[in-house]
Amino acid sequence: MSLIRRLPPVLRALLAQALAFTILVALARLGLRFTPLIWVLLQAVLAVFLSRWMDLGPRWVFMQAALPFLVRALWNAPIPGWVYLALFLGLALVFGGGLFTRVPLYHASQDAWEKLAGLLPAQPGLHFVDLGCGFGGPVAHLAKARPDGTFLGIEASPLTWLVAWLRCLPHANAHIRLGSLWRANLADVDVAYAFLSPVPMPGLWAKARREMKPGSRFISHSFEVPFETPHRVVPVAGRDGAKLLVFDL
Ligand SMILES: C[S@@+](CC[C@H](N)C(=O)[O-])C[C@H]1O[C@@H](n2cnc3c(N)ncnc32)[C@H](O)[C@@H]1O
Repeated sequence: MSLIRRLPPVLRALLAQALAFTILVALARLGLRFTPLIWVLLQAVLAVFLSRWMDLGPRWVFMQAALPFLVRALWNAPIPGWVYLALFLGLALVFGGGLFTRVPLYHASQDAWEKLAGLLPAQPGLHFVDLGCGFGGPVAHLAKARPDGTFLGIEASPLTWLVAWLRCLPHANAHIRLGSLWRANLADVDVAYAFLSPVPMPGLWAKARREMKPGSRFISHSFEVPFETPHRVVPVAGRDGAKLLVFDL
């Protein structure tokens, strides 16, 4: 069971729906007959029950309950199959990285970009990395503000990476790499910045401590590093409580 609970929520949600469906198929094989609406209701109830058992949060449970009704409503709709495939591929290309790493796509505000610029050391030739750069807003802004530095963004979702890459094309000192932030080597980095979620913070902090050189800086947008007190906290515009947490290594 603990193995299932360690799966990303999206996989647990799919597993819950698949198990619920398997139970319904078994019931039908045993000769039970219901109206279509009752089957859909049963699927929803079983999926909710299994989702709770798999430790999925309230938002997931709500979606799990709604999904069978949505599928039923669209079942006979004259929508060609390729539309679903295109939707799925589009969503996977933009949000795929986040689904499996449990980091959604949202953006730092312009105010955060400006305050981030103020937290860069003055030394020329500095190396900055945005770990999970989204559409590349911070990298493009900083590369323009500091032509003397080198700015790298790393992004796992292909379509998101493409947007960031196009956005940073005009800046010769900005580079956007497609891949996992966990494979980046932070040894030469002067400032590493991340706006992710609470989930990767312990691992990311351990990576920063292991790889970053003394005198470098790690900045987390809004998400705390468990049991670590930042050296500075800079409030920024954005969601409630948005802030830059600055750790000097
Ligand atoms: C909240 S957005 C932050 C965007 C940008 N850094 C900013 O401050 O506006 C987080 C991004 O990290 C990406 N991401 C999540 N896990 C990742 C991983 N392991 N490697 C690379 N990118 C990742 C997501 O796809 C998403 O685009």
